[in-house]
Amino acid sequence: MEVLSVRGGAPLRGTAVIHGAKNSVLPILAACVLCRSPCVLHHCPNIDDVHSAMRILQYLGCRAERSGGTICVDATYVDTCRIPQELAGTMRSSIIFLGAILSRLGCAELALPGGCPLGARPINLHIEALRQMGAVCDCSPECVCCSAGALHEAVITLPFPSVGATENAILAALGCAGSVEIQNAAREPEITDLVRFLQSAGAKISGVGTAKLTVCGGTPLHGTTYTIMPDRIETASFLCAVAGCGGDVTLLRTQRATSEAVCQILEQCECQITEGCDTLRICADRRLRAYAGTIVTAPYPGFPTDAQAPMMAALLRAEGESRICETIFENRFHHVPQLRKLGADIALCGQTACVRAVEHLHGAAMHAEDLRGAMALVIGALQSEEESTITGIKHLRRGYDNLEENLRALGADIKCMEIC
Ligand code: EPZ
Repeated sequence: MEVLSVRGGAPLRGTAVIHGAKNSVLPILAACVLCRSPCVLHHCPNIDDVHSAMRILQYLGCRAERSGGTICVDATYVDTCRIPQELAGTMRSSIIFLGAILSRLGCAELALPGGCPLGARPINLHIEALRQMGAVCDCSPECVCCSAGALHEAVITLPFPSVGATENAILAALGCAGSVEIQNAAREPEITDLVRFLQSAGAKISGVGTAKLTVCGGTPLHGTTYTIMPDRIETASFLCAVAGCGGDVTLLRTQRATSEAVCQILEQCECQITEGCDTLRICADRRLRAYAGTIVTAPYPGFPTDAQAPMMAALLRAEGESRICETIFENRFHHVPQLRKLGADIALCGQTACVRAVEHLHGAAMHAEDLRGAMALVIGALQSEEESTITGIKHLRRGYDNLEENLRALGADIKCMEIC
C-alpha cells in the first residue's frame, strides 16, 4: 500500500507547472467517439482517470495512445456500445460516454459510474435530457441502457446546471437531426473547452460560455488537434497550499480568470496574487487572516466546490474564524475529521464548516476518502513541523499529475512509501 509521508513547517518557494485540466480532458476524450477520423490532444495530464478513459476508448474499438502529454485517439471504428462495470466504475466521468456512444451508434449500455463519494451522485438529469431528445432509457441499480431510433430536436431545461448532464446533453444533441437548445446549462470553463474542441471538429454550437447552448446536430465530426485548458482546480490547490504554508510561488501555464473566485478570497485573507503571461504568482509572507464572510460553493463563476477542501486546509491557522458552506454535494466534508487529527478546530453545522484559528498543527496519521479531500490533507500536513502520514492516496493519483515531485520542487518534505 502506498503511504505519503509529509513533514511541513517550511514555506513553499519556486515555480510549479500546472497541467491540463482533468475535468476537461475527460469529456473531450469521450467526445472523440463522435469523430470519424483521428484526434490529437495536447497538454493531457498523466493521471489515473485519463488512463481509465483511454481504456474505455480502447474497449469500444478505438485506438488511444499516449506520447508524453499528447494523446492520439482514432475513433474511425467504434464496434460496441457497451461499457462494463470494471471500466465504468473507475470514475464519474465514464457517464459522459453515454451521450457520445448513443449519438454515434444509436444505442448505449453503461454500468453506472464510480467517482468520489460526495453523496448520491444520481444521473437523473443526464437521463431526462436524453429522453427529451427521444432516447428510450432504462435504468437499473447496475446499469443504464439507452436506445434511439432517431434523436430529435428538443428544448431542454436543466433543473440544475449539472456539469455532467450538460456535457452528455451536448454530445447526444450532436446526433440529433436538427437543433437542440440546452437552457440552464453549466457554464464551467471545462464546458467551454469541450465546446471549443467540438467546434474545432466541425460541430455547430452557439452560446458558448453562457447558460443557453444551441447545438445543431446531424453533421458527422472530423478529427482535429486540440490543446486542453489549464487545470483551474490544480491551480486553486497550489494557491491554497502556498496560502496555508506561506511562501512565494509562481504557477506556470495557468491563468487567473478561471480561478477568480479563489483568488479574491485568498487576497482578502492577505495573500498577494499577481498575474503574468500565463502565470500566477502568490506571496503569503504573513499569517493569514480568516475570510471575513462565508465562503459558499456555487456553480461557475461562483466559488468551486472542488476548491472547498483545499481552501479549508489553507485556513486552518488563519487568524479569526472562517465559515465555508458546501451547497453542491451533500457529503463533501470527509476531510474534516482527518484535519481535526492535526489539531484543527473545525465545527460542522449541517452543510457549513466553521474553522477557528489554531496556532500550531501537529503530525497525524490521516486517511483520504476523495480526490480533493486528499489534497486538503496534504496541505494540512504541510503546515506542521511534525511528520504526518496519509493513506488512501489512490485518490490523489486520479487527479493530480506528479504531485509529490511538484511539491518537493517547492521545498516540501513529502515522499511516497510502499508499506506491506
Ligand atoms: C463534475 O462532476 C466534476 N467532475 C466534479 O469534480 C465537480 O465537483 C462537479 O462537476 C461540480 O463542479 C468531472 O467533471 C469529472 P454535477 P459532476 O453533475 O458532473 C447533482 C473533482 O474533484 N446531480 O455538476 O458529477 C449532483 O448529485 C470532481 O474533480 C443530480 O442530482 O457534477 C451534485 O449534487 C468531484 N443529478 C450536483 O448535481 C444528476 O443527474 C452537481 O453535480 C447529476 C447531478
